[in-house]
Amino acid sequence: MKIAILASGNGSNLQALIDQLHLDPSSGVEIVVTISDRPKAYALHRAKKAEIPTHVVQLKRFSDRNAADAKISEIIEAYEVELIVLAGYMKIFQPQFVQKYRHKVINVHPSLLPAFPGIHSVSNALAYRTKITGVTVHFVEEGIDTGPIIAQVPVPVLDDDDETSLHRRLQVEEHEIYPQVVKWFAEDLIQVDNRKVVITPPKKR
Ligand code: GAR
Repeated sequence: MKIAILASGNGSNLQALIDQLHLDPSSGVEIVVTISDRPKAYALHRAKKAEIPTHVVQLKRFSDRNAADAKISEIIEAYEVELIVLAGYMKIFQPQFVQKYRHKVINVHPSLLPAFPGIHSVSNALAYRTKITGVTVHFVEEGIDTGPIIAQVPVPVLDDDDETSLHRRLQVEEHEIYPQVVKWFAEDLIQVDNRKVVITPPKKR
C-alpha cells in the first residue's frame, strides 16, 4: 500500500513509520512521498535520509487554502497514494479536499478525543487536572479532530508530570499504535459503517 506522510515538525511519528513499516518489506507499506508546509521541518530531513521523495507546500505561496489543497492533491495523485497519513501536520484541509479523500486521511492526536481537541492538547489535559489522557488515531473529517475514531490508547497523568514528560509518554504510545493502524489498512482490516470503525481480526490459516 502506497502512503503519503504529511508532517509539520519533528517527525518522530514519521520515523516510527519508516522504521517499522517502510524499511520492512514484509509490512506491505511504502511511504512514497512526504509533504510538509514548513521547509525547515525536521521531518523532511528524516524522509530524505530514508530516500523518500519530499515536497513543500506552503500556504503563503497560494492564492487561498483550496489552491494549496489542490497542490497537495496533485502530488498525492502523481504518487498514486492510497492512504494519507497526517503525522504532526498542523494545517487543516478545506471541505472539498476532505470530501474527495473521505476515509483515506488519518491523523494521530495526543489526547483521548473528544477530550482536548485542537492544539495544546497536552497542556490543556494537565491544566484540567485529568487523571487519564491518551492517544487517538482517527479519520479526518470537516471538523477539527472530530472524525470517526479508529484506535485509542490511555496514558495515566502522573502527579509530577509537566508538558514535556507527559508528551514524551504519549509519543511512546503514538509510535506503537500509529504504525499498527497503518498496517491494519494495508491488510484491509478496517471498515467504517456510519461513525463506527470496525477492525476485523485477520483470518487464521
Ligand atoms: C504528535 O504528538 C501528534 O500527536 C501531534 O503532534 C505531534 C507531532 O510529533 N499532533 C497534533 O497535535 C495534531 N492535532 P512528531 O512531529 O514528532 O511526529
